[in-house]
This record gives sequence, structure tokens and C-alpha cells, in this order.
Amino acid sequence: MRISIFNSISVKLGTLLFVIFFLLVISIESILYLFFVNFYTQDVVRELTQRSDAYAEVLSEDFDEAILNYAGLIESTSSKMIMVVDHSDNIIASSEGITSLSQDYLEEVIHHGDEDHGPIIASDWKNEDYFVAQSFIQHDHQAGGKVIMFSSTHPVREAVTFLNRTFAVVGVITFIISALLIFIASNKVVQPLLKIIRVTKLISEGKYDWRLRAKGSDEIAELSYAVNQMSKDIQNYQQQRTKFFMDISHELRTPLTYFKGYVEAVLNGMVTTEEDKKKYLHLLYNQSGQLQRLVQDLSDLSQLENEEFTLQRTRTSIETVMVNSLEFMGPSIEEKGIELTYELSPTPLYVSGDEQRLQQVIINLLENAKKYTPASGTIKVSTYQDKDQCVIEVADTGPGIPKKDLPHIWERLYRVEKSRSRDTGGSGLGLTICQKIVALHTGEITVASEEGVGTTFQVRLPVWGS
Ligand SMILES: Nc1ncnc2c1ncn2[C@@H]1O[C@H](COP(=O)(O)OP(=O)(O)OP(=O)(O)O)[C@@H](O)[C@H]1O
Ligand SMILES: [Mg+2]
Repeated sequence: MRISIFNSISVKLGTLLFVIFFLLVISIESILYLFFVNFYTQDVVRELTQRSDAYAEVLSEDFDEAILNYAGLIESTSSKMIMVVDHSDNIIASSEGITSLSQDYLEEVIHHGDEDHGPIIASDWKNEDYFVAQSFIQHDHQAGGKVIMFSSTHPVREAVTFLNRTFAVVGVITFIISALLIFIASNKVVQPLLKIIRVTKLISEGKYDWRLRAKGSDEIAELSYAVNQMSKDIQNYQQQRTKFFMDISHELRTPLTYFKGYVEAVLNGMVTTEEDKKKYLHLLYNQSGQLQRLVQDLSDLSQLENEEFTLQRTRTSIETVMVNSLEFMGPSIEEKGIELTYELSPTPLYVSGDEQRLQQVIINLLENAKKYTPASGTIKVSTYQDKDQCVIEVADTGPGIPKKDLPHIWERLYRVEKSRSRDTGGSGLGLTICQKIVALHTGEITVASEEGVGTTFQVRLPVWGS
């Protein structure tokens, strides 16, 4: 699956940031713009009307030529212009700049301002060159002309152009910053993510040797570590599975070879005496028994490893489990010439357990002890309570297990003496099954062994109600 550029996180993130930035800048700029233009123009117009009012008031009191000239003189030095017309609309005084205005424009301004119009003649800074305000001169309650004042709208337009340019520059900068953020996000987030996708695809295709280079402790690095771990786990699992199948086929091949050999011998007429026939049939019987046991163990194991498997747990007496197991295994142990002693807890011990499965564990341990302990050896079984745990021990005076093998005896099909004859050896599933059953009981099984001294298996289970 290819990720389209529009679906890329960095582009989505960048666009979002750009939109947020842009909206922010636009709103700030609009607010600035409105405030500035409104305040500025209002201020100019107010000042203009105040000034023309002031002149008109003075002239209403004393319509003197000296005052007229004085007003023209003062306004010549300011950025504004003044013009005074008499009651017949003739210009009787003006500041210097007025002459630069066209006659038509002046006429229009003069005639626009009749008394019923307000003091402001022009305030449209966008379309007109001047703000214009007028004030009327009164002589003894009679119209005596008017004062008209001009102030250029050019500075406002210039400021607005400057503002617009600034906004454009800020917009471009916003765009560049967003592009930069997209680039950084792409490098820091998207590229590593794409790498992770590529490696997970390779893993799903069975290429487990691929590893991600994980640095730091951020979420991407955590994800990379997790993917690497997952790859390692799958690789381990696959290797174990392959090994298991190889071992199983080996386990099945050996008895089948025996079977074939015996049957061939009988078919080829190589077995003649009744005694030989009996011997061969006995061997076949033993082999089929072992095969049956192997198949049973495998089915047990797959059942126990099934996530949905549940134990039939009830209040189980440890004494009952032990007595049943000892009754089952005792005779054959003693028959081998091994001394069997037991020391069961004087106070009754109960656990929440599956009686049949717990018995299977103890029988497996007793079988091992019997199998590996030579005649005249001893097997000692004991139970006791240790805090809120019920402890079961099966100790023997057998050959012990080498230190290097100890961690592996729980593995499926693991046997210490691989070349041991099939008559004494099992398939190496017994302890795996024991460990699974004990774990399902939330208990623990451990081993202590010393070569030449013996082996002790210890099972710990939570006592009933703890
Ligand atoms: N009491 C013991 N003394 C010495 N070695 C032992 C003892 N119990 C187990 N082992 C070693 O641990 C290995 C694994 O034991 P496990 O019970 O899983 O397999 P097994 O007895 O060989 O076969 P199975 O139980 O499937 O018939 C054995 O092959 C044996 O080498
Ligand atoms: Mg065993």
C-alpha cells in the first residue's frame, strides 16, 4: 500500500498549522486594519472640523481681513489647507496650496456645503483626495460665508498600502514556516513511520532478520523497539516450531522403524520359533504403548496450551491426590527395588485444584524418579504448608541432572541423555506438561539437583482460600 502525499501525516499536520496560522494572522490583521483606518480617519476629520469651527467662530466675532490672512498663513505651514468664502461663495482668503486645486473641484466643494449639510463634506479616503470640513460664519445672525478646510487623504492610503504589504509578507512567511514544519515533521515522524511500515511488511513476509534502528525514548523509538522485539519473538517462535516438528517426526520415526523391522522379519519367515514370535510381539506391544503415550501427551499438551482450556477446579485435598498417586505408582517403584518413603502433612491441606490434573503431575514426577533412580535407591515424598502455600516434594537419590541441562528440562521433547535407549526413556514431554498444569493452578514447580546425589522436584500451590 502506497501512502498518497495528501494522506501523509506531515502534510495534514502542516496544512492544519498553516490554516491555524493563517486564520490567526488574518484576524489580527483585520482587527488592526479596522482600528487603524477608523481611528485615523475619525481623528483627522475631528481635528479638521474643530479647526474650521475655531476659525469660523473667530470670524463670526470679528470679520477682519487681518484674521483672514493670519488663518491662511498658519495653515500654509500645516499639512492642511484653508479657504474662506463670503456669503456669495466668492473665495476671500485661502492658504497657498489651494491654488493647486482645480477650479471645478473648488466650485463643487463650495456649492456642496449649504447650511442644511453637516460639517463634513468629504470623508471617503478611498475615492477622494481630501477630507473636507466646513463651518459657517454668522454676522448678527446672518449668513456671512464659511470656512472650508482640507486635509489630504494620501497619508491614509499610504498607510493602508503599507499595511497590505506587511500582511502579504506575513502571509508568505506563514506559508514558508508551514512548509518548513511539514519538512521537519516529515523527517522526524513520517520517514521513521514509513521505515517501520516497510520493516513490518518484511517481517510479515517471513524476513525476520530486519531490525529498525531505534534511538532515544520518544514514541517512534518505543514503537521501533516494540517492532524489533516482536520480530525477535516471532523468529524464536518459528525456530521453536520447526525444532518441535523435527523432534516429533524423529520421535515417531523411531518406533515406526522398529515396527517395520519386526513385521518384515515375521513376513520373511525369519521368525520361526514360538519363543521368538512371542519376543517380537512383546517388543511390538511395548513400542505401540510408547507411541500411544506420546500421542496422549501431545494431545494433553495441545489441550493445555489452548487459551480456552480451563481446569475443573474444586476444593481438592492434597492428601487424596498424594494417596491416589502413591497407590498407582507405589507397587512398580517397590518392584524395582527402590525404597519409597512419605511424610504427609499432619494437618489436612486443601487447594483450589483439578484433582485429576494434579494427580497427573505427581504421577509424572514419581515416574521420572522411578525411571532414573537405580534399584536400592530411595524416593521420598513429602507435603507441608509454608505460609499460604502448600508444598509437595518428590526427592530421589538418582543420578541427578547436570547443571547445564537444568534450565532446559521443561522444554518440549528435551531429554538429558539424547541417545538413551527407548526402553527406559520417554519422549521428554512429561515435565512440560507438569509445568503447564502447575502454572494453570497459579503455582510454581522448581527443581534442585546435584549430580551423583539426587534430584528434588518441588511443587508450590496456593492453599485453599488464600
Ligand atoms: N528425577 C530425575 N532424575 C534425573 N533426571 C531427570 C529426572 N526427572 C527428569 N529428568 C531429566 O529430565 C528430562 C525431561 O523429563 P521429562 O519427564 O520431561 O521427560 P521424560 O521423562 O524423558 O519423558 P516422558 O516424561 O515424556 O515420558 C528427562 O529426559 C531426564 O533426562
Ligand atoms: Mg517423564
